Amino acid sequence: MAKTLQNLTPIFFFFFFFPLTIANAHDDHTFAKTSTPENLEVKPVKLTHLHFYFHDNITGRIPTSVRVAGGPKVKNKPLTDFSAVLNFGTVVVMDDPLTVGPEPTSKLVGRAQGIYSTASQTEVAFLMVLNYVFLEGKYNGSTLSILGRNSILSKVREMPIVGGSGIFRFAKGCAQARTYSFNTTNGDAVVEYNVYVYHY
Ligand SMILES: *[C@@H]1O[C@H](CO)[C@@H](O)[C@H](O)[C@H]1NC(C)=O
Ligand SMILES: *[C@@H]1O[C@H](CO)[C@@H](O)[C@H](O)[C@H]1NC(C)=O
Ligand SMILES: *[C@@H]1O[C@H](CO)[C@@H](O)[C@H](O)[C@H]1NC(C)=O
Repeated sequence: MAKTLQNLTPIFFFFFFFPLTIANAHDDHTFAKTSTPENLEVKPVKLTHLHFYFHDNITGRIPTSVRVAGGPKVKNKPLTDFSAVLNFGTVVVMDDPLTVGPEPTSKLVGRAQGIYSTASQTEVAFLMVLNYVFLEGKYNGSTLSILGRNSILSKVREMPIVGGSGIFRFAKGCAQARTYSFNTTNGDAVVEYNVYVYHY
C-alpha cells in the first residue's frame, strides 16, 4: 500500500527549526514555551506514496454514505435517489472502505470518514472534509486529514492533505483521485487514490 520515496527534503528543514510548543506543556503550569524537534522525537522527513481504492455506496442494502441535508429541490426525494446528491447544497456523511485493490472484497486498509457536500452551482464539485483512518500494519490507527475540492467529472482531481496524526503527525501532501467505476443507476463509485505525503 505504501512506499517511502526519499528521506530528506530541503524544504522540510523549515520544520526542523520551527519552534514547537506542544511537548511537556503538561509538566508544569507554563502555557507556552519554545520546544525542539528532539522533544517530540521528530525524525528526518519522508515522502510516502499511498495507493488505494475508495468505495462509496450511496444506495444499496448497506450504504456507506448517507445524505443528511439538502436544498429545497431534494427535500422530498427518497434517500435511495442518488441523483439528489448531485444537487447544490446536499450534505453527505460517509464511512467508506479503502481497499488495496478495486474489488469490494479486496483487503481493507483503511476508511474515509467525513463529509462531502455539493458546493458548486455550476458543475458537480464537492467540498471534501474527511479523515482517512488507516488499519494496515504500522499505519494502523494513524490518520490523514483532507480538505479540498473534488470536481467529480474531471479525470484527475487533486485535494490537499492538511495534516495527520500518529505516523503522519505534521503531514502535508496531496491526494489525487481518479474514478475507477461509476454506476449511473445507483451511484456506486469506486475511486482510485494516489496520496503523496510528507511526514516524519
Ligand atoms: C457496494 O454495493 C454493491 C452493490 O451495488 C456491492 O456489490 C458492493 O459490495 C458494495 N461495496 C461496498 C464497499 O460496500
Ligand atoms: C489495529 O489496531 C487495533 C487497535 O489497536 C487492533 O485491534 C487491530 O487488530 C489492529 N489491526 C491490524 C491489522 O494490525
Ligand atoms: C448498477 O446498479 C444497478 C442497480 O443497483 C445494478 O442492477 C447493476 O448491476 C449495476 N451495474 C454494475 C455494472 O454493477
